[in-house]
Formats: sequence, C-alpha cells, structure tokens
Amino acid sequence: MANKKEKEQDVTTNGRRAFLANSATVLGTGALAAALSGCSNGGGATNSGAAPAQTEHKGLSHEVKPGQLDDYYGFWSGGQSGEVRIVGVPSMRELKRIPVFNRESATGWGRTDFSQELLKGRDSGDTHHVHLSYTDGTYDGRYVYVNDKAGARLARIRIETMEVDKVVDIPNSQGTHGIFPQRHKTGYVFCNSEFRTPAKNDGRDLNDPTKYSGMHTAIDGETMEVKWQVKVDGNMDLCATDYKGLYSFATCYNSEGGVYLEDMMAVDQDYLYVFNIAECEKAVAAGKGGSGDVPIIDGRDKDSKFVLRVPVPKSPHGVNIDPTGRYAVCAGKLSPTVSVVDIDKLADAFAGTIKPRDCVVAEPEVGLGPLHTAFDGRGNAYTSIFIDSVITKWNIDLAIKQFTDATVNPILSKLDVHYQVGHTNASMSETKEADGKWLIALCKFSKDRFLPVGPLCPENDQLVDISGETMRLVHDGATFSEPHDCVIVRKDLIHPLKFNDRTDARFKIYEDWAKEDGVDLMSANKLIRKGKKSVRVYMTSVAPTYLLKEFTVKKGDTVQIILTNMDRVEDLTHGFCVTNHDLNFIVNPQDTNSATFVADKAGVFWYYCPWFCHALHLEMRGRMLVEG
Ligand code: CUA
Repeated sequence: MANKKEKEQDVTTNGRRAFLANSATVLGTGALAAALSGCSNGGGATNSGAAPAQTEHKGLSHEVKPGQLDDYYGFWSGGQSGEVRIVGVPSMRELKRIPVFNRESATGWGRTDFSQELLKGRDSGDTHHVHLSYTDGTYDGRYVYVNDKAGARLARIRIETMEVDKVVDIPNSQGTHGIFPQRHKTGYVFCNSEFRTPAKNDGRDLNDPTKYSGMHTAIDGETMEVKWQVKVDGNMDLCATDYKGLYSFATCYNSEGGVYLEDMMAVDQDYLYVFNIAECEKAVAAGKGGSGDVPIIDGRDKDSKFVLRVPVPKSPHGVNIDPTGRYAVCAGKLSPTVSVVDIDKLADAFAGTIKPRDCVVAEPEVGLGPLHTAFDGRGNAYTSIFIDSVITKWNIDLAIKQFTDATVNPILSKLDVHYQVGHTNASMSETKEADGKWLIALCKFSKDRFLPVGPLCPENDQLVDISGETMRLVHDGATFSEPHDCVIVRKDLIHPLKFNDRTDARFKIYEDWAKEDGVDLMSANKLIRKGKKSVRVYMTSVAPTYLLKEFTVKKGDTVQIILTNMDRVEDLTHGFCVTNHDLNFIVNPQDTNSATFVADKAGVFWYYCPWFCHALHLEMRGRMLVEG
C-alpha cells in the first residue's frame, strides 16, 4: 500500500517550526511574521474521523512507459520566462514551450515579422495565469489565454497550432495579474490590475495615492478587443468567473490603499469584489462609460451596483469556484482561513436585502498562509498553504456545518510539499468536470530536493495523487523559473493539427504580400526588389533543399525572407538561419514564416536549415551574396 501515512507528517514538528521561522526571514519582513504569528495554527495534522467513508484505494499509477501517452495536457505559465509550457500529466514530461511575450531563439518568436507586429518591439514578459476558453462549463479546446503581469497584456494561443495568434495591450493598467474567461461560453476574459495608479497616468497626481485606482477589464475572448473597464479603489489580485455568466470576481488586498508594505497590511479585513456583469453592460450601453477609447465604469462607491464588496479576512489571495458553481473560495494569505462565499446569495446582497458579509457561509482554518484552492468534484477542496508548506484537504459541506457548529472539524488531512507552495491545481478542477485524480503543487522553493545547480535552484512542481482518501505525493518535477499557475486538461478535449491549416491571422499578411508582388506563396522562389534599399525574397523548401539556392543583394539592403515549407510529412520542420545576422526562424510543415533583417556586410553568407530534417540536413543551405 502506497497511500499510507508516511507521507502525512505532523506539521507541528520542530523541523516545520524552524522552517516557518526561516520562511518569514526569506520574506524579509518581520511585520509579516508578526502578523502570521498572531494567527493560531491551522489545527495541525489531522486525519479526522469526520472524513466521508471511502473504500480501500490503491492509488493511481503515474508511470507512463516509453511509447505510452499521458492522460492530460498540463498548461503551465512560465512566469518571468514569458512563455507557456505544455507538460504531460501524470508523467510530468515537458512537451513543448510556447513563446508568448519572450524572444525565443529556437522558433524565432519575437524576431519574425508577425511576432514583432504583436509584441511591438518588446521581448520580455511575465506570464502568470493560463486559462482555456470554455463552453458550457468545460474546456472547448479552442484557446489558451495568458496574461503578462509586467507589461499589462493578454495573449491568446490557438490550441490547434499551439501558437500565439493575438496579443492585446490593456489600457489604464499596471501589474495585470489575475485573469479568467467566462465559463458558460467564450465571452469575456476578465483581467485585474494589481497595481493602483493615477487614473490619468501622465505625470499628474504622482504622489497622491488617494487619487490612485485599479481596473477590472473585460476583453472579448473572440475578437480580443477591450470592451469596458470598471474602476475600483483597492488593488486586485486573483480573478474568477461564475458558471452562469452573471459575475466576475477579484480578491482585493490592500483595501487600505497603502503604497508601503506596512500600510498594505494595516487592517484585518479586505474584500472579495464581485462584479455584476449585466449592470456593467447596461451602464456601458447607456453611454455611462465616458468619452475615452474604452468605456470606464466607476465602481469606487462603496454601495456601487457594479461592485459588491464581500468582507473577508486580511489580504486574500486566490479565489476559486467549486465545480458545482455554487461556492467561491477565497484564500486568506495573511489569515489562516479560507472564506466560502455562496454565489446564490449574491443577488440578494446586490439588491440590499442581505448584507454582503451574509454571503460568507464558511470560514475554516486551513493553515498559515493559504493561497489557492483546487477541487476534486467529490465535495472536497485542497488549499495550498505557503508558510506551512502543506496542501490542506478539507470538505466544503463540513466547513459550512462548522460555521454554526464549532464541534465539526472540516479538515480531512494535510500533506507536506517541498517547499513554499504557491498555486495548486487539480485535473479539470476549474471546470464542472473536475475528476479528482491528480493535483499539482507548484512549489516556489526546491532547496534540497534536486542536485545543486548553483545559487538558482529549479522550482518544484509536485504531483499528488488525490484519488484516495489521503493525498499521496508521487513525483518531484524540476522546472525552470518560474511557473506560476497551471491547468490540467483531459486529453480528449485537445485536438492539435499535424500540418498548419493556414487559417491563422498571420497568413492574411503573407497572402497580402504575395498578391501585391503577383506571386504564389506555394511556388515562388524569387527575389523582388521593393525599392532602392529593400528586397523581398520568396522561397520554398522541400527536404533537403531550399528551392532558391542563392540570391544577391546590395550592402545596406533591408531583406525580408518569406519561406514556405512545402513538405506534407508529419514533424518535418525546416527553418531559416542566415549566418552572422542574428536571424533564425522556424517553418513547420505546410506553414509560411517571415523575418526581416539588414544585409549590413558585403560578402558571402550562407543560409541554412537549423532543424534536423533529413540525412542531408547539413547540405540544406544556400548563399546570400552581398555586393559591396
Ligand atoms: Cu531542413 Cu534541416
């Protein structure tokens, strides 16, 4: 039996206590340690007899043998690497990196014409939250949305090609953090700005934080246009949506409006913001959004009909909706509790017939530093506990009972994770089809879990079997900096193409150029002079050759290469690299790609295929002759 209690350790041991003290030091704030030490311990390890009876359970196998495929696609944000990663679950094998806000050498993302148009010359970003488009409460296999916290952007990846097809700048925003798409259909994607700034951030009100505000932004998930924004007073953290299309949510910490750490944690109560989407749309339709490019609704009034403020304890972080759609679970961060908000009560609170706080139906103590909550579809919740380095499993119904009957213990068990867990998510947890099989603990520190590799250690994404009564840690997954969040998606919902179907937005650009030049992308191999100092070079490839074997330009010419890969063979990727010109990009089978550079040196420069495509891969090359 593997699922026994050796994995479940007492969180009150000396080691854990010492570690808690260390982690407070790591956080560099005695004030935070003090704030937390004021909290009572979350009950210690417990395997309460109150757990629902379950049958004997042997646990799931996480082994994926050579040649076998995983059961789930995991979509991971890459944090400050600026990318999204695809990880097979349960093997935890990294399958792909999708460059998003970063420049990537392997594919040329950030260097190709299309990616430069999307990124507007920027080549870094900070991806935090990945969520897929939904239809009727589950993933519809169309898009992945991901935010850039550093640059206030939202990007979209088309799942069939696993490539970014849109990037939108979010106006009036800094620190775009939580995002969440609507779940009843591909409607809005909501984005929270974490950092408060002056409403017109052009040099006025620089040092008057009372004039700062944050923005909750609604972006159309189909067109990726910014539709409207709601201005709020506090800064917002994580985002969520209900299952019916009525509400979006934001945890609000620093409702104090502080600009320094000690001010941000001054009060014991902050809020879960609930946005009433129908009221916002009504106001926008009535022209109440002002005269700017994007309608802005003012939600700063404490009695706003646009924003309900549900009081919750101190500096909440994550907000997650359970798979029934009934409850929003708001994690306390600086409070050892999670607050369970009954979404069915929100209409009465908006109407003023009950108080906002009356929507809170449970507030169990789960441990020191609760951050995020995942669900198993069996009524249980799994909250990541940062300071304690545990995942706490608790039961939602028991927590609701405990709210009026203190003798009930809703805490079912705790599992040590290594170390300082941030996000956690479970298979299909953010859908109505949560299946309670695998949970990922995205640990921020790995310390002694892997071979030492210098001052920067890998992060540790741990795989946990949650199919049984007790949680079972089965795998340590080392990852490069710094995954922030992930979702785990059943593989039958994802249908990638083997060959590009040439319907992405970027093909319109290539086809417009070809039309302008009177050529066919699928057969053109010629240089067309576009002006005194610029040329376009159309080229096709069939392994192991480029069908244009050489071309001649003048020193100083701007050269645009438009390469089409004619091969219709699975996985037969080519690319284009011209030596000593910082230019390298990928062209997948049946795809076209392009990039532009300046031929700034006279001489012979070989261009070659950087992807292994054939026994004669090394011979797949040609010459650029640059006349002085
Ligand atoms: Cu084509 Cu190597």
